[in-house]
Amino acid sequence: MASNKKLLILPGDGIGPEVMGEVHRVIGWMDKRRAVGFELEEGLVGGAAIDGEGAPVSDATVEKAMAADAVLLGAVGGPKWDDLPFQQKPERGLLRLRKDMALFANLRPALCFDALVEASSLKPEVVSGLDIMIVRELTGGVYFGEPRGIETLPDGTRRGINTQVYTTPEIHRVARVAFDLARKRQNRLCSVEKANVMESGVLWREEVTKLHAAEFSDVELSHMYADNCAMQLVRAPKQFDVIVTDNLFGDMLSDAAAMLTGSLGMLPSASLGDVDASGRRAALYEPVHGSAPDITGQGKANPLATLLSFAMMLRYSFDLGDDADLIEQAVQDVLAAGHRTGDIAVPGAAVVSTAQMGDALLAALD
Ligand code: NAI
Ligand code: MG
Repeated sequence: MASNKKLLILPGDGIGPEVMGEVHRVIGWMDKRRAVGFELEEGLVGGAAIDGEGAPVSDATVEKAMAADAVLLGAVGGPKWDDLPFQQKPERGLLRLRKDMALFANLRPALCFDALVEASSLKPEVVSGLDIMIVRELTGGVYFGEPRGIETLPDGTRRGINTQVYTTPEIHRVARVAFDLARKRQNRLCSVEKANVMESGVLWREEVTKLHAAEFSDVELSHMYADNCAMQLVRAPKQFDVIVTDNLFGDMLSDAAAMLTGSLGMLPSASLGDVDASGRRAALYEPVHGSAPDITGQGKANPLATLLSFAMMLRYSFDLGDDADLIEQAVQDVLAAGHRTGDIAVPGAAVVSTAQMGDALLAALD
């Protein structure tokens, strides 16, 4: 059917093409059963692009990514390309896409799947039903701030320097993404910094507060220091809906939050950029895991992280929240029915293949 939903699919290498195969089946299902059609394009990235086009991502693919309504990426990287110089490695393709698309907001959900609750290191009642979203600022802060470097002082002492810098536009644009997300969820946002000891944190808190008053007063806003947030995430994570924070705190808090419940094979993510003149937000969706060279080509990969990334794309890029709900519910159902790929299996229990997991998911969708 006709569509104004331009989706660029970049399977990448390693298990990327294997997990993306299952996404194609769900896209087929949506077309047939939900009358939701996509205008699909496919391209090469990572090792696949190095082998096929001589660079980790071609200019043409970058252009397609910028013209698409959303990009869905599998994974890149692997020992086959280990000997290449740093600038030519598969991972550079992904980094270039993120940079050229100016993706400044990284979305990392922490979701508890009921059937996997026993796998959490926390008590079932603490994580059961957990659904939080961490929005990490991705292109500013201490990882990029100047001055930076290592210097030797006249007395021979060496000194390493990094600088945390945030400007008002950088704070506003990521906070805006987080407020928008909160509106599509439980309507609650917690902004996290260390305004007690960092001026950049003071500015962050002031600017988020101003933006809230000006444009998002319908969203419930709270503020929290990052160290307290780390404690609260392991003590009572269900108090959160959306969390927005800077690059450094977000790096750590999102990893910690994701692992409250998850296995790598279950974790989706998204990176969002600016809204263009036509109202479209640059967006790249991908599983958190890498190319898993140790299981590539064996039909063992868990496709659920990529399928859940696809569901995020439906909800946040295409306003298809009902369809996203269907896929997320189907994931809950296949897990509840006991289907497990190796990465989420209990030792000794039967495991299913990538394609069998896809079969089970499609059956659950039906
Ligand atoms: P990895 O995530 O590829 O694998 C870590 C472990 O988790 C492996 O034992 C793997 O078999 C398992 N695993 C990962 N995803 C799985 C899935 N869907 N189903 C079942 N098991 C799964 O991380 P690793 O080994 O550190 O890196 C391998 C390559 O991937 C490297 O070249 C690395 O640079 C690249 N990488 C790429 C990323 C990306 O494309 N966004 C992210 C992380 C790493
Ligand atoms: Mg990290």
